[in-house]
Amino acid sequence: MMTQEQNDELTRVGPGTPMGEVLRHYWYPVCFERELDEFPVKKVRLLGEDFAAFKTPDGQYGIVAEKCPHRGASMVYGIVEEGGLRCGYHGWKFDHDGNCTEILAEPDSSPQFRSNVCTKAGKAQALGGMVWAWIGEGEAPYLPRYEAYVMEGVRDVGHSMLPCNWLQIMENAVDPYHVEALHGNYFAFIAEWKGFEMPSAFKNKHVKVGFDPFEHGIIKRRQLVGQTEEDDDWKIGHPLVFPYKMWVGGNGVFQMQIRVPVDDTHTWMLFYTVHAPEGAEPVDQMYPVDYEYEWIDDKGNFIVDYIEGQDIMAWVTQGEIADRTVENITKSDVGVIAMRRMYRDQIEAVREGRDPIAVTRHEHDVIELPLERFKFGRGAEFATQWIDRGSMKYSPQADDLKKLHIQAWANREGEPETKIAPGQ
Ligand code: FES
Ligand SMILES: [Fe+2]
Repeated sequence: MMTQEQNDELTRVGPGTPMGEVLRHYWYPVCFERELDEFPVKKVRLLGEDFAAFKTPDGQYGIVAEKCPHRGASMVYGIVEEGGLRCGYHGWKFDHDGNCTEILAEPDSSPQFRSNVCTKAGKAQALGGMVWAWIGEGEAPYLPRYEAYVMEGVRDVGHSMLPCNWLQIMENAVDPYHVEALHGNYFAFIAEWKGFEMPSAFKNKHVKVGFDPFEHGIIKRRQLVGQTEEDDDWKIGHPLVFPYKMWVGGNGVFQMQIRVPVDDTHTWMLFYTVHAPEGAEPVDQMYPVDYEYEWIDDKGNFIVDYIEGQDIMAWVTQGEIADRTVENITKSDVGVIAMRRMYRDQIEAVREGRDPIAVTRHEHDVIELPLERFKFGRGAEFATQWIDRGSMKYSPQADDLKKLHIQAWANREGEPETKIAPGQ
C-alpha cells in the first residue's frame, strides 16, 4: 500500500514532477513516418504537453511547443519550410532548435528581439517507420536502436489511445501470474460462454518466477509446470525495457510493447511487431502497416475475447490512475515491488543529477535484448494463434502474416513437431 504522495510521485508525468523529470530523459514515438509524408505537420501530446511535430522539405524532423510564442496560435497550423516551421497566423518562423529566425511583418526585426522569443523545441528523428521525439533538458541522448526497429521482417503496428495512466500498464509487464489467471482461467470462461476455442497455452501454472534488474530494465523469467530450468522461459526470459516498454515474442514473432505516457490519464499503447520467422521469403514494405485495434464495443463493454483485450480491460478498470492507497500487495506481486523500487531509485538518480538507466549516450548500430526463442516451450503455430487471438487479428494484413508463418514453417525442413500458443 502507498500514500497518496507516493502514488503521485510514481505516476505523474507533467513537467517538474519527479517522474516527469525521469521520463524526460527518453525518446518516445509520437506518430508514424507515413503520417508526416501524407501531411507534414501533426499535433502530438507527450508527457502532459502539447506539440507540433513536423517534417521540413529537406527531410528533417522537428518538434516545437504547440503554442506560438507571439500570441499563442497553434503551430499545428503552420507552414513547413526549408529550415523550420512558420506560424500560420502572423508568419513568425522557428528553426528546429526553436529559435525565431524571421518575423514576416518585420523583415528587419533585431536579432536580439528574436532571440528573446524562441519557442520550446525538442528533437525528432525517424526510426523503424515511427517518428520519435525527445523533449528533455540539456544534451539529447542517442535514440536507442533496439533490435525491433532495425531488424529485417514484416512490420505490423496495432495502436490505440487508452484512458489510463501508463504505470498500471507497466506493472502488468512484471506480473506473470496474471497470465494463468486472466489469459488462462478467464479466457477459458469467456471461450466457453461465447462458444469458441481458446489457445491452450495459458492454463499452465507457474512453478516460479524471477526478476533480474539489468542495464535496460528488468528481465522477467518464469518456469511453468512441465518445464525445467533449461527451458528458454527460465534460462533467457524477456525484459521490461525501462521506463515504458516490454520486449516479448518467440517463434518468429518479435514484439515491442510500447506504452507512451501521453499525460497522467492517457497512454498510447502500441504493439510494434516484426514477423521474421526463419525460412520466410523477404517482403518489401515501404512503411509498417499501422492500424487501430478495438478494445471497447458500441455498448461500452470491453472486448475480452482476445489476449490484449483482456489486458486492456484490467488496466483501464483499475481507474484513470490506479489508487494504490487501497491496494493489498502480496508475495506474488514480487515483480511489481521490484519495478516500483527501480522507478524510485531512478527518481533519486535524477535528483542527484545523474542519468537514469537505459539512457543511451553512445553511438551504436543496434541494441539487442534477451528474448526467449521457444516461448512457453511452444513451436511454430504460436504465431498463427497469436494473430488469431491477439490484437493482430485487427490488422489489415492478418491473413498475409499467417501465410508468411505457415510458408516459413513449410520451408524449414526438419522442424520439430510443435505445440501451443502465445502470451506475455
Ligand atoms: S501567433 Fe504565431 S505568429 Fe502570431
Ligand atoms: Fe497479459
